[in-house]
Amino acid sequence: MVWIALVLLTLHQPAASQPVATEFDAGKPTVLITGANRGLGLEFSRHYAAGGWNVIASCRQPVMALELAALAGKFPRVRIEQLDVTSDQQVLALAEKYRGQPIDVLLNNAGIYGTLEKQTLGSFDYEELKRVFDVNTIGSLRVSEAFLDHVLASEQKKIISLGGGMGTQSIGRLFGGHYFIKMSKSAHLMAMGVLQKDMQKTGLIVTMISPGRVDTQLMRDSGWTGSSISAEESARLVIEQIDKIDATMSGRLILYNGKIIPW
Ligand SMILES: NC(=O)c1ccc[n+]([C@@H]2O[C@H](COP(=O)([O-])OP(=O)(O)OC[C@H]3O[C@@H](n4cnc5c(N)ncnc54)[C@H](OP(=O)(O)O)[C@@H]3O)[C@@H](O)[C@H]2O)c1
Repeated sequence: MVWIALVLLTLHQPAASQPVATEFDAGKPTVLITGANRGLGLEFSRHYAAGGWNVIASCRQPVMALELAALAGKFPRVRIEQLDVTSDQQVLALAEKYRGQPIDVLLNNAGIYGTLEKQTLGSFDYEELKRVFDVNTIGSLRVSEAFLDHVLASEQKKIISLGGGMGTQSIGRLFGGHYFIKMSKSAHLMAMGVLQKDMQKTGLIVTMISPGRVDTQLMRDSGWTGSSISAEESARLVIEQIDKIDATMSGRLILYNGKIIPW
């Protein structure tokens, strides 16, 4: 009997992938975050939720996103949605689901470093190169294109993409190796730069922000063992920059402290 009761209870729990059955507050700005289940994405979700925003926190596996579920439990205007940025079908379906919903800030946060050994000269694995591009470069462009109307319909009209420093000549060529992450972020900068040009008469603001060396899984995948800042602190500083960004910063790559990185 106890077992049956437990099963019934479980069946009646809302799945993490279901939007919470509350309305967004139309008087508050809205942010869509990719890769919101851990690292910087989770901290962005926490900061925006605490700031009273409507938050669309997307991730690949909502049922595994326990920290996001806890956040949504605390802040009813946090909705958890399934989104693998490499999936046309999932991206288009989510854009359709939110048709008519203005999105003030689209935060292209999802990213991978790729396996270090597979992007080291002498042992290149080109399937790994495709995987890294699929998430970092194509994924951000795919999501940006699909949600363009939502962002244009908003007050702030901001598409913010994370990272980019490694994709610049000034930083990426300071040291060798790490080919795939550098190539993917370089192409990503160009994709966002061209998007900004295409859309410059619309008031859309497209800005890339480098979050610093942040203590996350991605940083550990990079092999970096030097100093780093916490994801919580980096997300707070990046959001301060996002709040300040205006049209003059469109097409720019900036550091989390506001310094402009030439690219
Ligand atoms: N950490 C740093 O030092 C640093 C420096 C410069 C730039 N950045 C940039 O900051 C962003 C966030 O990275 P992080 O440091 O927070 O790394 P992280 O802790 O490793 O988090 C990466 C996030 O991306 C998600 N993701 C991976 N593949 C995805 C896909 N196909 N679709 C949707 N989501 C996917 C992951 O979800 P799963 O859990 O499902 O894998 C995870 O939520 C990245 O774009 C990264 O390039 C980070």
